[in-house]
Amino acid sequence: MSESHPSPVQQSTAGTSRRRALGNFLDRIDAWGREPLISPRPVRQAAPPPQGSRPNVFRWAVFAVVVFGLLIGIGALFTLINPLMPLAAAREATAIDTLFNFMLGIAAAIFLLVQITLLYLAIRYRRRSGDNEDGDPIEGNNALEIVWTVIPAAIVLTLAILSYRTFVNVRTAGREALVIEVTGRQFQWQFYYPEEDVRTVDVLRVPANRPINFRLTSQDMVHSFWVPNFRLKRDAMPGMITDMWVTATAVGKYPIVCAELCGAGHDTMRGSIEVVSRTDFSAWVEAEKTKAVDTSDPIAYGRSLFVKHGCSGCHTLTDAKAVGQIGPNLDGIGSRADRDFIHHSIVNPNAVITEKCPTGPCQANLMPQNFGQILTEAELNALVTYLYSQK
Ligand code: CUA
Repeated sequence: MSESHPSPVQQSTAGTSRRRALGNFLDRIDAWGREPLISPRPVRQAAPPPQGSRPNVFRWAVFAVVVFGLLIGIGALFTLINPLMPLAAAREATAIDTLFNFMLGIAAAIFLLVQITLLYLAIRYRRRSGDNEDGDPIEGNNALEIVWTVIPAAIVLTLAILSYRTFVNVRTAGREALVIEVTGRQFQWQFYYPEEDVRTVDVLRVPANRPINFRLTSQDMVHSFWVPNFRLKRDAMPGMITDMWVTATAVGKYPIVCAELCGAGHDTMRGSIEVVSRTDFSAWVEAEKTKAVDTSDPIAYGRSLFVKHGCSGCHTLTDAKAVGQIGPNLDGIGSRADRDFIHHSIVNPNAVITEKCPTGPCQANLMPQNFGQILTEAELNALVTYLYSQK
């Protein structure tokens, strides 16, 4: 053993004195909690309280209320500032937040109550040096058992009633709702307004303060339509239609996220929803209706088809502002492939997997196999002409 290390005896002496200092400190806290309310100030000393003295309940209660109040105040402030939650932009979001904050408040109060009591009891009943006895045998306590059964039961019942009310509130159909059909597909959201006969891709526009009925479905696999600012999320499933109701209240632009792992491009399956005033919405619908696609110009027509049919969800093509990373990059495709190859790649993509994709070798079945059926001959022609023009 080297000279610089203290001997085991020295070490244990240091340990004992440190333990004694801690003991004195804890005794002082303990003694403070036992002082009578009105009395000549006793000499503060590091001595255990006299045998049989009882805790000053009033003092501990004041202490607990102050600490409790402080922590709940911080919690309430945190909730008001809401640094973790995005802006609540819908009637439903406010209802859900109210319920959530109420639950969080109860959970925080119980957590603090348990932790403060635990801390107090750990100090009060810690083992003192030389004490090797067992604790007192304690039999049941009816009053305690009633309290800790009735209070949680009341809390759970209250939460059940409030949750049910919120659920009904969020799932109730609004009158004169604007219907929007949402179709998820790898890796894009498509929107159709049946009454207005307007289609959009990835970007959705809705009027504020009018109920909206989203009718969700999917072309391929399960996606999940999630608008964090609405606090609402619902699966879009192939072969069935699911409903979602919302009344947006705050004008602004909010993200749409796919919240169900749906393949290699899941993380890119994002869109945005723009809440505008009713007049702005009507004006936009009129503008969209009159914005007829010029089918006589195959390049412009092909570009609109490229976006409309979701090609931009997977492919990069600068001319169409597409930045997809799943399939082959189509910039300059016209100088690498002829019209036949492009046509063949669209209607029978699995047969022509030759290129390397940005994320590795291209996989079969990632690209929908049904474009030959979805697209008309004229549409297919325009799309091929457009892609072939990309030199
Ligand atoms: Cu669609 Cu994830």
